[in-house]
Amino acid sequence: MRILVTGGAGFLGSHTVERLVHSGHQVVVLDNLVTGHAEAVHPEARLITGDCGEAALLRTLLPEHRIEAILHLAASIEAGESLRWPERFFANNTGRTLTLLEVALELGLRRFVFASTAAVYGNPGPEPVREEHPLDPLSPYGHSKLMVEQALAWMHRQRGLGCAILRCFNAAGSGPSLGEDHQPETHLIPLILDRAMGLGEGLTVFGTDHPTSDGTCVRDYVHVLDLADALCLALAHVEPGSWGVWNLGSGRGHSVAEVLTAARKVTGHPLEVRTAQARPGDPSSVVADIARARHDLNWEPRHSSLENLLQSAWAWRLRHPNGYATPGATVPWAAPDSSGHPGFVI
Ligand SMILES: NC(=O)c1ccc[n+]([C@@H]2O[C@H](COP(=O)([O-])OP(=O)(O)OC[C@H]3O[C@@H](n4cnc5c(N)ncnc54)[C@H](O)[C@@H]3O)[C@@H](O)[C@H]2O)c1
Repeated sequence: MRILVTGGAGFLGSHTVERLVHSGHQVVVLDNLVTGHAEAVHPEARLITGDCGEAALLRTLLPEHRIEAILHLAASIEAGESLRWPERFFANNTGRTLTLLEVALELGLRRFVFASTAAVYGNPGPEPVREEHPLDPLSPYGHSKLMVEQALAWMHRQRGLGCAILRCFNAAGSGPSLGEDHQPETHLIPLILDRAMGLGEGLTVFGTDHPTSDGTCVRDYVHVLDLADALCLALAHVEPGSWGVWNLGSGRGHSVAEVLTAARKVTGHPLEVRTAQARPGDPSSVVADIARARHDLNWEPRHSSLENLLQSAWAWRLRHPNGYATPGATVPWAAPDSSGHPGFVI
């Protein structure tokens, strides 16, 4: 199939593009490289540097490359930053996606796979969360994605758009040749590994009195290779007029303290931490129920043990101590946060 992957130079996108190319698809990547890395794009994919909300560009490139399906991963992804700059997140994540959809429908494209997020659930409580759980995002980031989900539902009903909505939980790990390199980094596992490399400041654990087994936040970490598999399976599943929403996690929760203990084992570094009060609005526990993706997509997260997540990410970090050679541009909202986010953990 001929596929457009927006955000294909990013962490999840680059792993997905590699998987698609290896499966024999023809892939065009559209990425403005705001946080992505050109060198992360598989050489057999065609990289077009541009914005996924640029209608004139889309009207040329979609027919020119005879695109049959779109995997839409381009987004601004830092929930914490979205609280500071909501307008930018709604503009990038919602506004530009709506333009992409308008042009896609205008040109008769009917297969759309959307990388949504667990952040649409907000604070779902201690039980594994199912797809029909009420949606109540706590950040503009989550809300910007929810608005796209809602718009997709209308375009599905009224215009026959085939949609696969994938609510990804916390992506982590690395493939053998690709890794995670966000500037600035705010995700738990790469941050911990940065500290183990001697980079950055200390680590702060926010909240040790959550109602979890050890008092620290629990999240569902899923290997980026498993997510790439799921995106490919969803692409095979989506048909004009079809509809599906799937959680993609490992189905298991790990606390921050557990991740730290496992990371000490993998890296051999003592990883000292300081603790601070829980941040308002931080959910105590967010874990996916993945029964639906297992059943409908025949998907199994085979790479997502905590040990493998850490080992694969650490192996890439050791080979690439400074990340990719071509850094993503520093995004305007990525300036150091004076309100107290250094060493952000969860
Ligand atoms: N990483 C996670 O843990 C996680 C969890 C849940 C959902 N997701 C979703 O998965 C997708 C990919 O996340 P990621 O971790 O790979 O992020 P990333 O920042 O590594 O990748 C996003 C890519 O999109 C590009 N981009 C951003 N805005 C663009 C625009 N307007 N036009 C063209 N390109 C643009 C960036 O340059 C980057 O290459 C996002 O939609 C995110 O919301 C990620």
